[in-house]
Amino acid sequence: MRVAVLVSGAGSNLQALLDAVRSDPDFGAEVVGVIADNPDAGGLRKAEAAGVDTLVVRWEEYASREDFTGAIVAGAKVFRADALILAGFMRVLSREAVSTYPILNIHPALCPAFPGARAVEEALAYGVKTTGVTVHFVDEFVDHGPIIAQEAVDVEPDDTAQSLHERIRKVEHRLYPEVIRAFAKGRLRLDGRVVHWRADD
Ligand code: GRF
Repeated sequence: MRVAVLVSGAGSNLQALLDAVRSDPDFGAEVVGVIADNPDAGGLRKAEAAGVDTLVVRWEEYASREDFTGAIVAGAKVFRADALILAGFMRVLSREAVSTYPILNIHPALCPAFPGARAVEEALAYGVKTTGVTVHFVDEFVDHGPIIAQEAVDVEPDDTAQSLHERIRKVEHRLYPEVIRAFAKGRLRLDGRVVHWRADD
């Protein structure tokens, strides 16, 4: 499976995926392109270092979400991608993307709790004792689509948003490649919004 990864920031999840693909000849997916919404995304440098093609689609240059999404989809087509992987991509794509590609996202909270860009800060401020990681299919709503996998991360009494997010990222770096591998191997089946896993061969 050919996947394009969309990033806005540091790209540590992209790096974890690149490492997982490189170390497993039977991974079943390759990263054929990385698309960022801004030229400063650290993920672009990680892609370049790995020899992966990159594309910047600047959010500010488009009049509407639909036009921006159209440019992302056009880029993914140039990469001949079969699926899109959101890895810290901070823009919401319009319906065209969702109807053109299967799209996966990773969110640093246990959905449906704390959707949006400040999930770690909001979980901490709310006082939850356990938060975590969700990997889900993307639909047209934010952090909402069918849940593929979740893993809990306990909040420690002296946590800051940064220390908590660091522990969450550690889980993400293991969980996201596992899910993408299963997805690439056709092990995920959707039934309404329930995702069923088929055992590995
Ligand atoms: C991750 O915590 C992810 O869950 C969220 O954005 C963060 C991206 O981190 N959507 P990185 O750019 O992969 O380091």
